[in-house]
Amino acid sequence: MSRRLARAWAEGRLTWRLDVAPPDRPAHPPEPALLPPHAMPKRGKAGSPRARIALIHALAHIEFTAIDLAWDLVARFGAGCPRAFADDWVRIAAEESLHFLWLSARLEMLGSRYGALPAHDGLWESAQATAGDLIARLSVVPLVLEARGLDVTPQTAERLRTAGDAISAGMLERIYRDEIGHVGAGVRWLHWACESANMTVDSAFERSVRLYFKGQIKPPFNVEARNLAGFSENLYQGLAS
Ligand SMILES: [Fe+2]
Ligand SMILES: [Fe+2]
Repeated sequence: MSRRLARAWAEGRLTWRLDVAPPDRPAHPPEPALLPPHAMPKRGKAGSPRARIALIHALAHIEFTAIDLAWDLVARFGAGCPRAFADDWVRIAAEESLHFLWLSARLEMLGSRYGALPAHDGLWESAQATAGDLIARLSVVPLVLEARGLDVTPQTAERLRTAGDAISAGMLERIYRDEIGHVGAGVRWLHWACESANMTVDSAFERSVRLYFKGQIKPPFNVEARNLAGFSENLYQGLAS
């Protein structure tokens, strides 16, 4: 449905009218069960088939939530932004949908399926915490959480490849390239939102992260990928724990 909607938007078959309040949380399937992050079961011995399925399941859930996050940006904030904002996040919703479908198919190849394990709800909690403020949402979701994905994904892909799982590794590498674009969109729209609100990007970003992000900003950073996304080091280095 997500990809069909994105295609209809790209082909100009939808009207740019965003006047319906989005729900606090979108509908989701009965499974996976959503648990608080600390209640998640252990993934099993590193390198075991069980641990690999748990890893891919966790990543599939991140992508599933990322679909919702992209549409939520459009529905919740799109009316106050130029049309190009909707163009960007609709396209990103379609990419997140593909990422989810790949990982979901991979789980089935490995004898599991999306929903077979519990998942944690941390990502959507960050969305709810920032539902009233576009600058906070962009700071925390694309620029802390998705940017964190850029820091860790290359090593995860490498580990999978070393363990003999070239298929999952290839999916992660492709996802990684798309995610650089998502962080890039986050940077561009953060700049736009700060300019519209007459705020400096540095202080708005720092303030949002301190107020709304409860975790730690952990180095080492993938500075090369972050630079490709236009995410300048002086925005985040000072926040590193
Ligand atoms: Fe993704
Ligand atoms: Fe993404």
